[in-house]
Amino acid sequence: MRRLLFLLCLTQFAWGQDLELRRSGKALAHFSLAELKKIATPTTLRLDGGARNYWVVPVKPLLEKVYGPKAYGEDVTFLFVCRDGYRSPVKAEEVRVLPAYLAFSTSDGKPFELENKPLGPFYLVWDSEKYPERKLGGNWPFQVVAIDRANFSQAYAATLPPPKSSAQVKHGFAVFRKKCLSCHQINGQGGSMAIDLNQPLSVTEYIKKPYLHKIISDPSKVRGRATMPALDSKFPKREQAIKDIIAYLEAKAEQRRKASKPAKPRK
Ligand code: HEC
Repeated sequence: MRRLLFLLCLTQFAWGQDLELRRSGKALAHFSLAELKKIATPTTLRLDGGARNYWVVPVKPLLEKVYGPKAYGEDVTFLFVCRDGYRSPVKAEEVRVLPAYLAFSTSDGKPFELENKPLGPFYLVWDSEKYPERKLGGNWPFQVVAIDRANFSQAYAATLPPPKSSAQVKHGFAVFRKKCLSCHQINGQGGSMAIDLNQPLSVTEYIKKPYLHKIISDPSKVRGRATMPALDSKFPKREQAIKDIIAYLEAKAEQRRKASKPAKPRK
């Protein structure tokens, strides 16, 4: 019986390589791998100096076929939805400008897995040989089953800077969205590779500011065996950007404290 189940799982894996495209959570289209290959020409991609080699299809032709020429936009985020429900948010602008691909198998005969985890049906990869800035960060989701075109301000409303925030807080949020949200959550929204930075307590409430600054700048200076990547050393106006992120985190903490204050009892 077990063997039968195992075989069933295998065939499921071999045949079930398809992808759903959604708009704000609603299914719009469904493609088998063969159909995807007709829409976007498959190529091979070499990563990590040739240590990893994949068969891939470019993401852009696919998005443009389903969502039309207006696929992109300032407020648009593509959520790469994984089998376990994890959603990796990628800003539309990044998919438009940088080459993103969906890998569907290896091209060197190695198993389609990484650290013993199966990568299929699809694995979002970036040409990090050409664009090294895509190397770090959390936007390499695997076991992708769907792409959802969502409005960021709706899908991530709980992460937005509080209304009437200062320019510094708004800038801090813009950096946070780009560099941190794929791994961390704010009020339960965002990536699930690391902790929520605002609830139940904000990191600004239990970590002293100079250390918080250091953790963001280079976690390994504060903690041994830290797995979080340091903010890119070439990030524009880096020191100020870190201060702005902290200002955003403080604003979110204050907003939460205000919201959780019990209303004054009426006599
Ligand atoms: C690739 C995923 C990833 C990215 C991107 C990332 N982090 Fe982290 N972060 C982690 C992990 C994992 C930890 C847990 C400690 C560790 O393993 O380093 C962590 C820990 C932290 C902590 C310490 C929290 C605590 O209570 O210990 C802070 C603060 C933090 N991150 C802020 C940020 C900020 C701000 C950014 C964006 C500039 C960011 N992180 C980007 C993965 C990430």
